[in-house]
Amino acid sequence: MKNLKIEIKFRCCQLEELLPDEIELVEQAKRATNHSYAKYSHFHVGAAIRLEDGRIVQGANQENAAYPSGLCAERTAIFAAQAQFPEHPITQIAIAARNQNGFLKEPITPCGACRQVMMEMEDRYGVDLKIYLYGTNGVYVISSVKDMLPFSFIGKNMEG
Ligand code: THU
Repeated sequence: MKNLKIEIKFRCCQLEELLPDEIELVEQAKRATNHSYAKYSHFHVGAAIRLEDGRIVQGANQENAAYPSGLCAERTAIFAAQAQFPEHPITQIAIAARNQNGFLKEPITPCGACRQVMMEMEDRYGVDLKIYLYGTNGVYVISSVKDMLPFSFIGKNMEG
């Protein structure tokens, strides 16, 4: 029997320490929270993704009276980009969330379903997707979805 360990890497920094184009992406994720429809949770999540050609696509969580019919901010952004610009890999995603007290101090991390969809993007294009998770105390920067979803399942796992 062996005990094994998986390590994940991420960086924590202040927003101002990021590059200007990274700051812009985070600011767009913050602004996107204004387009959230969060009638039930009152939890407003915004996402901004950058495509390889520099284009930015925003997303925001969309809720529904039939709760599971709603969708997270991350997936609204990713699917909108995929539906319009499938030729361009997604290279970056920034996520921000606020509740009735304002933006959260600690970053929120994407739910399991969103991580799975993000993993599919890395697999589809063979390009790492860099993630920026905004909190007023600091930003987590994660270089690849692989660091957020160890033991991931992708298409080639079905080949045995
Ligand atoms: N939500 C997101 O949009 N992204 C996340 O990463 C976590 C949760 C949304 C879904 C729902 O509208 C609300 O936040 C509360 O779960």
